[in-house]
Amino acid sequence: MKKCLICDSLIEPFVSFGRMPIANGFLQADQFQEEYFFELAAGFCPECTMVQLIEQPEPQKMFHENYAFYSSTSTRMAAHFQELAGRVKDSYMKSKDPFVVEIGSNDGITLRHFAAAGFRHLGVEPSANVAEAARKKGVQTVCQFFDENVAREILGAHGPADVFLGANVMCHISTLHSVVAGIKLLLKPEGVLIFEDPYLGDIIQKTSYDQIYDEHAFYFSLRSLTFLFERHGMEVIDVMPQDVHGGSMRYTVGRKGAHDIAGSVELLRERENALGLHDPATYHRLRENIERSRDELMNLLGKLKKQGSRVAGYGATSKSTTVINYCGITPELVEFIGDTTPIKQGKFSPGMHIPVRPYADFENNHPNFALLFAWNHVAEIMEKERQFLANGGRWIVYVPRVEIL
Ligand code: SAH
Ligand code: TYD
Repeated sequence: MKKCLICDSLIEPFVSFGRMPIANGFLQADQFQEEYFFELAAGFCPECTMVQLIEQPEPQKMFHENYAFYSSTSTRMAAHFQELAGRVKDSYMKSKDPFVVEIGSNDGITLRHFAAAGFRHLGVEPSANVAEAARKKGVQTVCQFFDENVAREILGAHGPADVFLGANVMCHISTLHSVVAGIKLLLKPEGVLIFEDPYLGDIIQKTSYDQIYDEHAFYFSLRSLTFLFERHGMEVIDVMPQDVHGGSMRYTVGRKGAHDIAGSVELLRERENALGLHDPATYHRLRENIERSRDELMNLLGKLKKQGSRVAGYGATSKSTTVINYCGITPELVEFIGDTTPIKQGKFSPGMHIPVRPYADFENNHPNFALLFAWNHVAEIMEKERQFLANGGRWIVYVPRVEIL
């Protein structure tokens, strides 16, 4: 039995997706032989309620100089983080010569707004290729895995921070206690941590099980985070649901007692009680829904194959790796995946080795059906793919349920 990474109690496993490759591990044919696999399974801690992976690959296997995820590929996400930067600048960068630190700063999608406005800032980003892309935008970046020791170094070199940011990264780091200790060390007494991650409540309500993959060590709720921060003398002072990545939550955290607590925190606590996020039965229901979703998707793809329809994937997302490998979607069922990210093109999807092709291949030779792996960007994609529908193409989605749109 595995112990909870937050409170050391025994975790209750509730779902296994079987043998799984690295979600962002797009590869060339000559790398198939050495492809790395691990057992992807999630569990629930009955004590602190943290949902987490049972086994997680070493960080260096996921985050390195060929990291495939460039944040700025989505214009929607660029707008989202511009909004965040604007809010933070207006509300929290008020001291004399303020300083902002961001972990998982990737290609500078957020910090570039602070750099452009002349604020002192520092990105901490262990994936060298995306860190370099940020530097090219004028964003100061150190290429390191953030933890308490790195926090101490930053404090020595730059002094304390007014704001600490982390988008879609806190849930990636299994040594979360060291990260939170580092954040507390680095923040001024009145400083705030603002971070956002996919929200467990949305995953449960939408059966968006494809959020479960190697990089996501944790699936946060207010309840489990309250437990975590309590241990560090910190507390959640505000929460704000975000309509990105299929449903995220933005949390603002400060030292205990240093700030007023917004009414949104109590409201979310009540919503989580109603959702049963503390109840093991909720996770068993989630597993049943996941299995049903898999069966329905495979039935549909099998039917389309039999009737001779061409199906292509849209968006070689990290999330798609879980769906493709768990369901067993082979290149016979989905002939290729179109994607706009240059580093993924010409490679193969992890595990099932479906070819990943430039977006133009989709545009120039529309399939009959497009399986929307980037379902979290549905609004942006529907807007730009009117021609696909006009040509008679149809979308297949599987979140929140399997259907042809
Ligand atoms: N914040 C961006 C990127 C999210 S992807 C966005 O929301 O789009 C997660 C990023 O976190 C990757 O760029 C990865 O390299 C980085 N990361 C992983 N572990 C980290 C750690 N310990 N410290 C800092 N960054 C980390
Ligand atoms: P995303 O859903 O942001 O993240 P994750 O990898 O965390 O699941 O990934 C979006 C992927 O989809 C990325 O590879 C770029 C691709 N994409 C397109 O090909 N076309 C598009 O219009 C959009 C929005 C994304």
